[in-house]
Amino acid sequence: MNESAAERVVIFDTTLRDGEQSPGASMNLGQKLQVAKALRDLGVDVIEAGFAAASPGDLEAIREVGRQVEGPVVCSLARCSRGDIDAAWAALKDAPRKRIHVFLATSPIHRDFKLKMAKDEIVRRAVDGVKMAREKCADIEFSTEDAARTELEFLAEVVERAIEAGATTLNIPDTVGYALPQTYAETLGYLKRHVRGIDNVIMSVHCHNDLGLAVANSLAGVMVGARQVECTINGIGERAGNASLEEIVMAIRTRQDVLRVRTDVKTERLYPTSRLVSHVTGLHVQRNKAIVGQNAFAHEAGIHQHGMLTHRETYEIMRPEEVGFSRSSLVLGKHSGRHALKERLNALGYKLEDAQIDKVFAEFKVLCDKKKEIYDADIEALVIHGQILGAGSHTWELLALSTTSGTGTLPAASIALQKNDGTRHQEAAAGDGPVDAVFKAIERITGITGRLRDYQVRNVTVGEDAQGEVVLEVEHPTGVYRGRAISTDIIEGSARAYLDVVNRIALKQPTNKASTAAVRELGTP
Ligand code: KIV
Ligand code: ZN
Repeated sequence: MNESAAERVVIFDTTLRDGEQSPGASMNLGQKLQVAKALRDLGVDVIEAGFAAASPGDLEAIREVGRQVEGPVVCSLARCSRGDIDAAWAALKDAPRKRIHVFLATSPIHRDFKLKMAKDEIVRRAVDGVKMAREKCADIEFSTEDAARTELEFLAEVVERAIEAGATTLNIPDTVGYALPQTYAETLGYLKRHVRGIDNVIMSVHCHNDLGLAVANSLAGVMVGARQVECTINGIGERAGNASLEEIVMAIRTRQDVLRVRTDVKTERLYPTSRLVSHVTGLHVQRNKAIVGQNAFAHEAGIHQHGMLTHRETYEIMRPEEVGFSRSSLVLGKHSGRHALKERLNALGYKLEDAQIDKVFAEFKVLCDKKKEIYDADIEALVIHGQILGAGSHTWELLALSTTSGTGTLPAASIALQKNDGTRHQEAAAGDGPVDAVFKAIERITGITGRLRDYQVRNVTVGEDAQGEVVLEVEHPTGVYRGRAISTDIIEGSARAYLDVVNRIALKQPTNKASTAAVRELGTP
């Protein structure tokens, strides 16, 4: 089948809304803009940039994405209430292309225990919510939260009434990841057959991954007529996460013969976007993750390697280049010039402006003095960890660090940090080892103390002079936070990773940032 003749599936990315609800994954404004621009470059159709009523920070982020990221439709979530819809509109009104996404739970368990509403009240609230939103915006999505556990007849009634009220996209979420591909397809098929007007709107799927079936369920929905898929980069999201965008897109591309639909996603941007989201959220991508994991295209067994050399398709259904994954790894060294670096950055999928390339090049030269051979992963680390893409300002920056340790010596660290108000702060501390001393000195300066739950160091590339990536998990009274950093020096990398955590904690201001989950617990006001 000719790909361009196939029907298009709308890719609705909710990394910045449902994805940001992953524990410890909160992003600052600069990071959200960075991800939104990457999503635009990736070619997604809709960016759900947040839940405006959840916090002033969410509202501001949606507004800035709407103002600065042209191309995709920008969307805000809202409950079926005047306050939420007004907040969504305040965030969206300057965006050239906008959508309000209203939702209300429909399942018996949500009706009885969360909302304490009877069926007729649910229908009335849904209709009022859609009408209120439609007064402001032409593009309205309505979601029947927990649809997969809702009685089919009642679900059909709510969906039909929402369409009559003016909804243009109807989303059928499997909120708790309970469905199986067959049951989910049956639910959508039932709606197709029984809801008047369903063929005049876009039917959408939104699946959570509690049973590991989010992608399978979403594709089952596409097979019975859904033409929008809601998903997140790397599948991040509440609990086990949402359907993974890269898996959905590559399944649609690779199995066009069966699915007979297409997307407009530029698949060669999948890998760089995945790396960026992993970095800004601190959520590591498992090595064997489909499409974007480090091992996704690695062949270990001799028989596989032999097959690959003779005819690549014996063991490979997609080419790594299609998803932006480069096979060659050894690239540059100290004699390489700016032009060679720029070429390599382009090949890796990073389209940088001249000033940004200058900055990477300056850091590349510093790295060349520490390391003989520079691999792709080193270059990526410079772009992503080096804040080249303008991740926004942080509360604390590292200025200087020195440590002493050895047999018979008390390990100690002295550290200088700069706060975002321009002040310089210095402290020294002793610890069980140099890394512990560094963490204690940082805690003294920032006043932020957490319990280290996990500490890992791994090589970014190979060789004795390889850069080390430090990944930390820290428990704090406000939640669990992850931090990452890269350096050829493990102690410096540890300090930067701990500061990454401290900056994430500083970002979480309980006075103005109620989490979406907390707001959702209140139910519909
Ligand atoms: O999972 C869910 O039901 C949601 C809705 C708000 C769309 O995220
Ligand atoms: Zn969800």
